[in-house]
Amino acid sequence: MRAPMVAANWKMNGSGAICREFLEHLSVDGLVDVVLFPPFLYTSRLSKGFEERSISVGVQNVFHARSGAYTGEIGAEMAVDAGAMYALVGHSERRNLFGESDEVVADKFVACQRAGLTPVLCIGESFEERAGGEAESVVRRQVDAVLRAAGIEGFANAVIAYEPVWAIGTGETARPDQAQSMHAFIRGVLMKFDTAIATNIKVLYGGSVKASNARELFAEQDIDGGLVGGASLEIMEFEKICRAASR
Ligand code: PGA
Repeated sequence: MRAPMVAANWKMNGSGAICREFLEHLSVDGLVDVVLFPPFLYTSRLSKGFEERSISVGVQNVFHARSGAYTGEIGAEMAVDAGAMYALVGHSERRNLFGESDEVVADKFVACQRAGLTPVLCIGESFEERAGGEAESVVRRQVDAVLRAAGIEGFANAVIAYEPVWAIGTGETARPDQAQSMHAFIRGVLMKFDTAIATNIKVLYGGSVKASNARELFAEQDIDGGLVGGASLEIMEFEKICRAASR
């Protein structure tokens, strides 16, 4: 049985005041894993503050090397030191705005696991790729790069977030059946290597998840929760999404 998960990707949003508000007011109950991904600087504060509650904190990115002359970068071990338990890897904004290739993403995935962070591997096709009938082959290519670097065992302690790029921050959400079909495809790719790992891995949906559409998305068999951007900065909206996922 896969426990549902709802993750908040704050991107480069949030502030000390918003952290305080979340620490004072965020409350989730029921069976659902909740993970907040604030900008890196707020990791310690939130992870300490939420220590006693069942809310985890993650980072939005890491660099693949342990340490060295990489000005401005942060390593996975440093994220662990700051209290992070998860890391987003290969978010489409990292791939598209910062030029992260499939191979770089795979290196980061491996670096997270070496440090004891659970990677949340973000994959998904663009509008043009879907229109050209390439959605599945793009997602397959993104998964294959990680399989080459980490092996199927790498997916034993990882989460996947399917985020069609055309649905991120656009207000346009994949239809539940559309998302379900891609989630089943992703699980099917892993199934060829290891049935237990494929059955147990959480596959989240991301892309304009809101309280108003969360329940029908999460009702699909292979959708184990959501990675939420815009709607995760408003506590009440985010709590509703968590409730929609919780069992
Ligand atoms: P969105 O972002 O919910 O604002 O579409 C999702 C994401 O980028 O993870």
